[in-house]
Parts: sequence; C-alpha cells; structure tokens
Amino acid sequence: MIKGVIFDLDGVIVFTDQFHFKAWKQMASELGFCLDEEVNHRLRGVSRMESLDIVLEGYKGASLSQKKKEALADKKNNIYREFLAAMTPDDVTDQVRETLAELHRRGYRIALGSSSKNARFILEKVALAEVFDAVSDGTNITKSKPDPEVFLKAAEYLGLCPKECIVVEDAYAGIDAAKAGNMLAAGIGKAGEYDKADYCIKKFEDLLDFLK
Ligand code: BG6
Ligand code: MG
Repeated sequence: MIKGVIFDLDGVIVFTDQFHFKAWKQMASELGFCLDEEVNHRLRGVSRMESLDIVLEGYKGASLSQKKKEALADKKNNIYREFLAAMTPDDVTDQVRETLAELHRRGYRIALGSSSKNARFILEKVALAEVFDAVSDGTNITKSKPDPEVFLKAAEYLGLCPKECIVVEDAYAGIDAAKAGNMLAAGIGKAGEYDKADYCIKKFEDLLDFLK
C-alpha cells in the first residue's frame, strides 16, 4: 500500500530545468560552443559534475584539468543561482500547491528526492520548505540518479519502506533510480513516455486519480 510520495524538484515541482539549461548554455557560449535541446534532456536528474561532462561533449578545445572543470561548474552554478534568486512563490503553480495539500489531506507523507545541492534554497524561495515532510537532496548523497540512493534516503526520512513509496519524475534517470530502489514510478513530461514508468501523468494533478 502506498503511503509516501517522493517528488523530484527540477522540472516537476518547479520549472528550474529551464534555468539549468540557460546557465549551461551561457557557460558553453563563453567557451565558444552551443547546446541543443537534446542535450538538455540528458541533463535531467544527473549531478552537476556529470552534467558538465555531458555539456563538454560539445567542446572541441584542449582537454581540461579537474580544477578547470570545477571552476566551470562553479561558474554555471553562479549563473544558475542568479535565476533562482529571482524566484518567488508565484513560480509554483496553483495545481502543484493544491495537489500537495490534497495528498496530505488524503494521509500521504510527502518528500523531496532531488539531486540538486540548491534544493533547500529553491524550496525557501518558493515558500514550499514547510510543505515537505522530508527532504533528500544533493547534499546527502554520494551517488546521483540513476542510483536509487536519493530516493531510498527520502523513504528512510519519511519512516517508510521503498515498497510504500511512489516517485514522481521528469527524468529517465529518475525513473531508473525509482525502479532500482523497488519503488513505483510516475513519469511526467517526456518521462511519461518512458516504458519503465508505471504511470504516465500529463498534468500534475493527475496524481490524484490513482493516489486515492
Ligand atoms: C537535478 C537536475 O535536479 O539537479 C540536474 O535535473 C542538475 O540537471 C542536478 O544537474 C544538480 O543540480 P545543482 O543545483 O546541484 O547543480
Ligand atoms: Mg527533474
């Protein structure tokens, strides 16, 4: 029986996926190359340094030292945080806020399961910090999605076992992570087309159709 719902953040609760992409594009253009939408999809769910490696596939310059790569990741994060700093509670749709409240009314515990180290900052900016019963994010994991660690920690923080949890994700890597952790997975957006997803949701509130 499902007792807990674990939500990815970027691209599910808030549309910060666009900010990640804009920040990576800006970093890439300073190095003299462009990024396309196909790359953006591959960045979903994976850690900052793994994202950098994907982004740098398009870089044709001399090979970069680890120190230089870390400086590039910091640069991208600084650009990204400028976008985040401008976020307000209006960046969460009424659908999302009302669905989370309704899940609580129905007795579900809800957690965040995000690879991002900026997750708590985002939750504060959009006034959702008090809404989640538990937060598992990039600051408490050593392996990022598709490894299940972030979701297993979220279940543990909720006091539930994996079988009692469903994950809501916009990333293929996130659906793989949920399945690797023995959890149900609901895909939203492109991840809804992924055959490993147990449910496909077109709109956020569609969750309420099967989480009675
Ligand atoms: C995930 C995003 O939520 O967080 C990835 O989907 C991102 O694109 C990852 O790379 C890490 O985020 P941050 O905020 O720690 O750089
Ligand atoms: Mg996501």
